[in-house]
Amino acid sequence: MLSFKRAIIFAAFFLVAFILLRRSHASADEPEPFRKPPPKPADLSSEHAGVSHDPSTPSYTPSEDSATKDNTIPAQNVLQDMSKMSLYDKLAYQYPYDVETKFPAYIWQTWKWTPASGEFNFRDQEASWSMQHPGFVHEVITDQVAVHLLKLLYAPIPEILEAYNALPQPVLKADFFRYLILLARGGIYSDIDTFAIRSALEWIPESVPKESIGLVIGIEADPDRPDWKDWYSRRIQFCQWTIQAKPGHPVLRDIVSRITQETLKRKREGTFVSKEKSVVEFTGPAVWTDVIFDYFNDPRYFDISNSQGNVSWANFTGIEKPKKVGDVIVLPITSFSPGVQQMGAKDYDDPMAFVKHDFEGTWKPESERHIGETN
Ligand SMILES: *[C@@H]1O[C@H](CO)[C@@H](O)[C@H](O)[C@H]1NC(C)=O
Ligand SMILES: *[C@@H]1O[C@H](CO)[C@@H](O)[C@H](O)[C@H]1NC(C)=O
Repeated sequence: MLSFKRAIIFAAFFLVAFILLRRSHASADEPEPFRKPPPKPADLSSEHAGVSHDPSTPSYTPSEDSATKDNTIPAQNVLQDMSKMSLYDKLAYQYPYDVETKFPAYIWQTWKWTPASGEFNFRDQEASWSMQHPGFVHEVITDQVAVHLLKLLYAPIPEILEAYNALPQPVLKADFFRYLILLARGGIYSDIDTFAIRSALEWIPESVPKESIGLVIGIEADPDRPDWKDWYSRRIQFCQWTIQAKPGHPVLRDIVSRITQETLKRKREGTFVSKEKSVVEFTGPAVWTDVIFDYFNDPRYFDISNSQGNVSWANFTGIEKPKKVGDVIVLPITSFSPGVQQMGAKDYDDPMAFVKHDFEGTWKPESERHIGETN
């Protein structure tokens, strides 16, 4: 006989599966602002008021993926032999990227308990996301449900599941899960201890066409001080407690293949996290930041032939307005880290403050949470 707990888990799993199967329906129901405005060329970005974009910077070439651009995989392609593809290519095949699709109306969160549980103590935070995003599908996924959901989404790429199962700590699994769910389904991921101050419909400046953007990220840290290395692993650190993405985005594809390969290597070696191999570097904001900069400098996606130099932290330090680079919007530090009272971040009532992160419900040990030290 099924125990009560198992019955609950299965019920939750089938509910999620049901919601995923209704995916196309969900995006058809999207609120008005997610509907496509008349198409405009992506490279007009520099003319958009309120967004800084240097026209001399490398131009974005969204023509990639033309082979995999077809969203509906034809039946005979299913039989294609994936065994000789690289992991990166398998992911591109499984979840192709199309910048012109809508941002899916999903909000993904993870926690030890669902909101239905008596032990769930992030009710206000969770409710703020639902209230700001009527019509969105909002899911709080527990560990047990995550395993089933990933089996469903990544069955054709077993090394992903092997890596997920091999990760020894909840913090690592939680980090990995956000990239996996956004790669497969897109939408918004946000840590359970975040408040939505403003709706995601307002995150991208109105002047920027949504069909030219596939990823929205914020700045976690911009430590303009000589001893920044004592506090942060990167001079500019992008945060991964809140991310908005379209499915298949190449940045997600890259981070998922990096974490998978590193995990399987560490599984063979038997050491997952040590003094030299921190969570921040393995699955957290450091590797996230590296992947994003590598994308900005990747000739597969950007025409860098006549650019003056690499895109680096210097391009984002001190920004006070959203900055568009290719198909990515980088929000200023105030947007996802308001109220930290340092590094130029403004307060919660600033019009650019979108998300408030409490650092309470993170899975991370105190030592991993740099900004938390100022709270
Ligand atoms: C530019 O960025 C790429 C990718 O991050 C890196 O491999 C390369 O070494 C960088 N070049 C310079 C001059 O910093
Ligand atoms: C980044 O900064 C470098 C050096 O100032 C500049 O040449 C490049 O065009 C900038 N790129 C972007 C995307 O802002």
